[in-house]
Amino acid sequence: MIEIRDSLHSVDALAALVDEANASPFIGSLSVEELTHLLRGGTLRFLYAADTLVGFGGWIPINAQWAEAGPFFVSEQVRGQGLGKRIIHEVIVQGARDGINQYAVTRNLAVKHMLKVEGFQEVRLVSLPAAVQLFVIRKVSIAKALRFIQKRYPEPVSHFALIRHQAAAQSHRRSGQGETA
Ligand SMILES: CC(C)(COP(=O)(O)OP(=O)(O)OC[C@H]1O[C@@H](n2cnc3c(N)ncnc32)[C@H](O)[C@@H]1OP(=O)(O)O)[C@@H](O)C(=O)NCCC(=O)NCCS
Repeated sequence: MIEIRDSLHSVDALAALVDEANASPFIGSLSVEELTHLLRGGTLRFLYAADTLVGFGGWIPINAQWAEAGPFFVSEQVRGQGLGKRIIHEVIVQGARDGINQYAVTRNLAVKHMLKVEGFQEVRLVSLPAAVQLFVIRKVSIAKALRFIQKRYPEPVSHFALIRHQAAAQSHRRSGQGETA
């Protein structure tokens, strides 16, 4: 039976999953420290098959109105069984508890599909509020960007947003028409 938990049973198991994730063409680079930081902040969930850690999903607060949905990862041995959909749905529901807007970025076609099913719309990064753009720029260190580029993959990176907060929605629309967010 698969369970979603908010606590981690073994840091070693997480480290092994992080190694697997870092070999994926869809993940620039992740570290146990980054995930532990999310865990401490209460924004990381784990997929357990019995007591085996098989995946994780989290969200990163950006400001009072926005959070990024991700990272997401499901171990290759258990893919294609609906676990990705479960953890992504959990992260989106939990991450939006305060009614905030969610941003996501991916070049994985399956994730693009799942985000659209969850109500996200594909957007241009420049159409999002400046705070979100700044967050994205700050998050990508040069080392991370290089590792991501080296993992050649034909599908382009796409940005997505799920807007719930009215003021930010207006800001998003205005900025889409060329005004500053
Ligand atoms: C993305 C990932 C979490 C999906 O996990 P999973 O357990 O295999 O996903 P699921 O079994 O729940 O199904 C995925 C959904 O995507 C769809 N899908 C799969 N491949 C697809 C493709 N090439 N194009 C479009 N949709 C696709 C499936 O049909 C399914 O949707 P449906 O139920 O509506 O038909 C997993 O593949 C993974 O960890 N990948 C590597 C890391 C990664 O890309 N993380 C995200 C970085 S942004």
